[in-house]
Amino acid sequence: MRGKLGFAIWVLFLWGTCFARFVVEKNSLKVTSPDSLKDTYECAIGNFGVPQYGGTMVGIVLYPKANKKACNSFKEFDISYKSKPGSFPTFLLVDRGDCYFTKKAWNAQNAGAAAILVADDRVEPLITMDTPEEENAHADYLQNITIPSALISKTLGDSFKKAISNGEMVNVNLDWRESLPHPDERVEYEFWTNSNDECGPKCDSQIEFVKSFKGAAQILEQKGYTQFTPHYITWYCPEAFILSKQCKSQCINHGRYCAPDPEQDFSRGYDGKDVVVQNLRQVCVFKVANESGKPWLWWDYVTDFSIRCPMKEKKYTKECADEVIRSLGLDHKQIDKCIGEPDADKENPVLKAEQDAQIGKNSRGDVTILPTLVINNRQYRGKLDKGAVLKAICAGFQETTEPAVCLSEDIETNECLENNGGCWQDKTGNVTACKDTFRGRVCECPVVQGVKFVGDGYTHCEASGSGRCEINNGGCWTKMLDGIRYSACVEGESKGCKCPPGFRGDGVNTCDDVDECNEKLACQCSDCKCKNTWGSYECSCSGDLLYMKEHDTCISKKASTEVSWSFLWVIVLGLAAAGFGGYAVYKYRIRRYMDSEIRAIMAQYMPLDNQGETPNHMPHSNI
Ligand SMILES: *[C@@H]1O[C@H](CO)[C@@H](O)[C@H](O)[C@H]1NC(C)=O
Ligand SMILES: *[C@@H]1O[C@H](CO)[C@@H](O)[C@H](O)[C@H]1NC(C)=O
Ligand SMILES: *[C@@H]1O[C@H](CO)[C@@H](O)[C@H](O)[C@H]1NC(C)=O
Repeated sequence: MRGKLGFAIWVLFLWGTCFARFVVEKNSLKVTSPDSLKDTYECAIGNFGVPQYGGTMVGIVLYPKANKKACNSFKEFDISYKSKPGSFPTFLLVDRGDCYFTKKAWNAQNAGAAAILVADDRVEPLITMDTPEEENAHADYLQNITIPSALISKTLGDSFKKAISNGEMVNVNLDWRESLPHPDERVEYEFWTNSNDECGPKCDSQIEFVKSFKGAAQILEQKGYTQFTPHYITWYCPEAFILSKQCKSQCINHGRYCAPDPEQDFSRGYDGKDVVVQNLRQVCVFKVANESGKPWLWWDYVTDFSIRCPMKEKKYTKECADEVIRSLGLDHKQIDKCIGEPDADKENPVLKAEQDAQIGKNSRGDVTILPTLVINNRQYRGKLDKGAVLKAICAGFQETTEPAVCLSEDIETNECLENNGGCWQDKTGNVTACKDTFRGRVCECPVVQGVKFVGDGYTHCEASGSGRCEINNGGCWTKMLDGIRYSACVEGESKGCKCPPGFRGDGVNTCDDVDECNEKLACQCSDCKCKNTWGSYECSCSGDLLYMKEHDTCISKKASTEVSWSFLWVIVLGLAAAGFGGYAVYKYRIRRYMDSEIRAIMAQYMPLDNQGETPNHMPHSNI
């Protein structure tokens, strides 16, 4: 097994390996103190953590007294490099050697350092600090490194150490603004990847990156901000081995295009040539999609393929791939045509172009490691993570031409997490003027739920206009008591806070109850009893008097209520009496009239003996 593995790696060659040109990507380090070291130096960007592409960082260099190589956790030494609020962040200087660079960075980050500077231990040109090889990449801390790292020369390291031991403060500015060219309004970038999903953490992190970055990549591409091209590395089999079993299983087109066996075991699972064909299919998907004007479909294809056609489930096949292609509305016949005949002894123009592209041009070195991201023809250094990569792509736009996605919360510099980036924030802490952008934080009064905040963004922001009281009560004082809300925010006014009646204060932090009794503001009538309450007061008048709050006076109860009630009674009774009286008079007069009529009629027939007798039984219905 060991022998086979050794052979597999030894037998395949990368194009141009003999002259492989690896470019060390750099950023600048400016020393601002002490005076003796003032200058701008170069340092090499580590291929892990998050370099602040497009930005700068200021800090103070510290060199540990113990654990100088940072191979152990600083907790064991009870040391913390976390900077106190308002002071400069710490750039931890450590020595190269004894353990992985990533381990040093992880220990520095956990101790609270904001960046790590690794001093080389020999005099040589700057090198790129990389992540450990696959076999050692189990450590899941790799993806958790978020601080930037830089390798500095032995000479500069020695100067720093000397200055620090002399008690001098070493102040430096790490600057990544020129680490990527940013010539115009479009960023060209390439992603060198692999369809192999069985190579452990490195393959997993690649596909995780594609999945998480897909959304941003597609927006950038659709709006024309970027031109993206995927690429795939292939190896070749030397002439003498073309007919060997190893090359036959790892290569297509007669040893021209090869990939290492995914399981590194020729006797089981998929072979290297399966990987080459799937890689070729992915290039072809891109070509066909690009020709139909939708290059971004590549991102959909690659994520869907990894989910639907994994090697583990034995679905890493043409049939499965074709299903994905069809589901995306692409013409699989065109793609088959692009793939050509893998068994034929002839060149495949697509893979030939890929091999040519592996060789570096101008400022870009050869692509020798997977995955590799190339932005504006420079190799990206740092971890493969959505935020970190987006930051780098954004740094590739000419200033002020970067698209909105570059200024959204997707790319955070996290400067707002500490001390709110020195920007204004409201009392509740959930409205803030701090905005993370890839170029660093800005303090700008926000717009919250359509309400605009105005102010300098640093010390003062204030909700303005209508609806302002809805947002944390317009920043004004408020209090609930017995189900009643007291508020110093006046909706009708465009700004400011005003304590409600009965209160006094700045209206922002405090509104205090006014003691109307003590301050002789009300209830000053003689013999009145004044009692202060929260937000108001109570006043009771002496004797039978009643307190009228609106007029702050006491009035007689008789004069007011009882008098008026009896007056009303008089009227009501009067009216009733008048009505009844009228009725009685009327009745009386009718009866008198009838009586006299009847009397007159009767008198004509018989003598009347009793004048007083009234015919009580006469019907009254007609009157
Ligand atoms: C790395 O981060 C992940 C997710 O935040 C977490 O689950 C994991 O425990 C971290 N690993 C280490 C070594 O801190
Ligand atoms: C993709 O299409 C654009 C414009 O249609 C073209 O400029 C570019 O070269 C194409 N890319 C590839 C890799 O074919
Ligand atoms: C801020 O937080 C408070 C509670 O702490 C909440 O009542 C309020 O609605 C929040 N405001 C906004 C604008 O999210």
